Amino acid sequence: MNTETDLSRIGISLPKNLLDTFDEILNLRGYSSRSEGIRDAIRSYITYYQWMSDVRGERQGVITMVYDHEQRGLLQVLTEIQHEYMHVIQASLHSHVNHEKCLEVILLRGEGGDLKNIAERLMAQKGVEAVKLTTIPTQD
Ligand code: NI
Repeated sequence: MNTETDLSRIGISLPKNLLDTFDEILNLRGYSSRSEGIRDAIRSYITYYQWMSDVRGERQGVITMVYDHEQRGLLQVLTEIQHEYMHVIQASLHSHVNHEKCLEVILLRGEGGDLKNIAERLMAQKGVEAVKLTTIPTQD
């Protein structure tokens, strides 16, 4: 049984630049419709969330994060979150991408749930554009 045959229509509001960038990508990737692109984006979002939920046990990992350092109060919040999890953060590397954007790479080792929580806390902050967590189990 294909559960994806019952279609629901939704209306969403998006910032124009977000939609423009999305359309550009759809165009480059040869999508026939915006709806198909949005369906794929939602599937990826769900897959990523499910993958994140499987991050358990002792793990080593890396968080890659891009953010706008001009966002008011963001630097302080990001620092506070990292200090809160200093028992799992081994090191971090900061690189200035351009006048507004910063790229940060955080190396972690600890309980998978903690690694996931840090990534989700960082992701939830306004001005943080992207957060990607990659982990491997430490057991042989
Ligand atoms: Ni910077």
